[in-house]
Amino acid sequence: MMYKLGIIVASDKGARGERADESGVLISDILEKHCFQTKEYAIVADDFELLADEMIRMCDVSKVDLLLTTGGTGFSPRDVTPEATLDVCERLCPGIPEAMRAASLAITPRAMLTRAAAGIRGRTLIVNLPGSPKAVRECLDVILPTIPHGLEILRGDAGECAR
Ligand code: MTE
Repeated sequence: MMYKLGIIVASDKGARGERADESGVLISDILEKHCFQTKEYAIVADDFELLADEMIRMCDVSKVDLLLTTGGTGFSPRDVTPEATLDVCERLCPGIPEAMRAASLAITPRAMLTRAAAGIRGRTLIVNLPGSPKAVRECLDVILPTIPHGLEILRGDAGECAR
């Protein structure tokens, strides 16, 4: 059982070509070792409409099973990834960012500064991750063991993925 993965890197500098993306590539590398295939990958400016449109496209047209975003979850005035996520989701999954923050707080108190959200649109689970590669790795360590079970239930079938 392979799950289809979409990745959105929220970054003004990335979208302008002024900064090479590390975090999106890292997400793809890690997830491809865990029963996921990267079907969609986009670098999008920190803009509510552009982010929401790209999320809707990956969910409704590409129909990815899991959509992971990275970046734009902090306090900068341009950080709007959680707002775009909440706008496109039909149901919320607060337990996922709660778990990320709880575990991350043991590593750095700055973990309280991520406003990351998660929710469901149709048959797609959307999860926000912070922007740095370090934070991406730490947050994926927390949620990855449990995500496939959630996706199985969301899809309504019993997966064969060992994890
Ligand atoms: N979570 C973990 N696990 N590790 C980290 O290093 N960095 C924090 C936080 N969450 C961090 C973390 C910091 S410093 C910020 S500012 C916020 O995520 C928001 O990051 P973002 O604006 O890149 O999304």
